[in-house]
Amino acid sequence: MSRHVLILAAGQGTRMRSSRPKVLHRLAGLPLITHVLRAAEILNPKSIGVVVGHVADQVRGALGNHPALNFVLQSEQLGTGHALLQAESLFRDRRGSVLVLSGDVPLIRSETLRRLVETHERMEAAATVLTARMDCPLGYGRIIRNGTRLSRIVEERDASKEQRQLKEINGGIYVFTLPPLFDALRKIPAAYGINEIYLPELVTIYGRLGLPVETVAVKNPEEVRGINSQTELAEVRQIVRNDKNEELMAAGVTVEDPATTYVDTDVEVGADTIIHPGVILEGRTTIGVGCELHAGVRIVDSTLGDNVLINNHCVIQGATIATDSRIGPFAHLRPETVIGESVRIGNFVETKKVSLGNKSKAGHLSYLGDAMIGSEVNIGAGTITCNYDGSKKHPTTIGDHVFIGSGAELIAPVNIGDNAYVAAGSCVTEDVPKGALGVARGRQINKENWVSHRKEGEETPLSEL
Ligand code: UD1
Ligand code: CA
Repeated sequence: MSRHVLILAAGQGTRMRSSRPKVLHRLAGLPLITHVLRAAEILNPKSIGVVVGHVADQVRGALGNHPALNFVLQSEQLGTGHALLQAESLFRDRRGSVLVLSGDVPLIRSETLRRLVETHERMEAAATVLTARMDCPLGYGRIIRNGTRLSRIVEERDASKEQRQLKEINGGIYVFTLPPLFDALRKIPAAYGINEIYLPELVTIYGRLGLPVETVAVKNPEEVRGINSQTELAEVRQIVRNDKNEELMAAGVTVEDPATTYVDTDVEVGADTIIHPGVILEGRTTIGVGCELHAGVRIVDSTLGDNVLINNHCVIQGATIATDSRIGPFAHLRPETVIGESVRIGNFVETKKVSLGNKSKAGHLSYLGDAMIGSEVNIGAGTITCNYDGSKKHPTTIGDHVFIGSGAELIAPVNIGDNAYVAAGSCVTEDVPKGALGVARGRQINKENWVSHRKEGEETPLSEL
């Protein structure tokens, strides 16, 4: 039997009170819909469709690099049943089953989906609904049973007081056998008082048509937590965050304070790494083994080798740092920073599009941008690569074993050859050849007894010097 997947993601998510489409709100570094998509992909379906509508282009764009998605447009959001109906063209002449997922139910696990689909096939059902028992079922459609059989799903707004007491809810995830689906969908009337077609009403229609409907209960109700508001998003975020911290600790990472540790889904951390309180690891970040990340560090889309030490309050984005290097405190490594082994970057150093070779040091108060810096180089305190002339960025290259004295300004484009020295306080505008000393400072003059002369009014005022 061929299995297809369809994700409903056209809704605006009015209750989020946000201009961003709901399914693009981020959870642990990924849009909600990406979590759903990943769970579905593991099932290896024959096709995956996505119903988009509200700011469709943004949703399409966010999934744009995904090769095998079929998008369908629901130009007016007239309910979940209407959304599914828009996908009819994808399934014309197809057989098998379609697993329908909600783009706002991100914690669903692929094992659960597999169990749902397998039960559907084994029972030869026309429809199978994923259900859960919730202590607080507020906002969900309630499962109404006739004996043990599912007879109807009632939405919160239409439910009677007694029905609202029911704790068994509709997870918003279903499997349908293909041929009868779309004909049955067309039979759903608009919901009472609003112009919306409710997908769960299919259960009623199937009952009337005598088609078999089954249910599968999730073991952990958290899996079908839907996100309709910012508060629910925060609650789900907390669940995902705890799970990720547990995963890291199970893999031998020391998480000193899980309550203040924020690690995105795709982040990997090696064993024996110590994460101090208040650390945030985002995006596609990989941390090696035996690293130490001190309090207040934020690392985004970066790769750290083994035994790297990041001192307090560093921001590291799009950087690569090799083994045994030490960074910070208070360093800012910006995109395309490539740091070699055993490098030392100290406080208040900012780097951007720069490579530093093994064992180089920039200990204090520097800006290093658009530069290639060799190995065993010493960048003195306060060194600045002046890379920007107001319209263009220019490169600086510094060879191996170079010593740049404190307070040097390197006006790019400029090259400093291997083994060269630049004197402290220099403003370097020309290349310094290999092995040379570049000195580029104003020459100092000392005016003897200037202070006492000034008191007597005999000396030129400072302003006229
Ligand atoms: C829905 C179910 C409810 C279930 C709950 C589980 C209906 C009528 N109700 O309620 O029984 O307990 O999910 O989370 O289905 N969407 C569209 N087009 C639309 C409307 C919605 O694509 O016109 C998409 C949304 O983007 C969302 C999903 O369908 O991803 C669910 O819609 P939502 O409005 O959140 O439904 P709920 O009220 O949560
Ligand atoms: Ca929802």
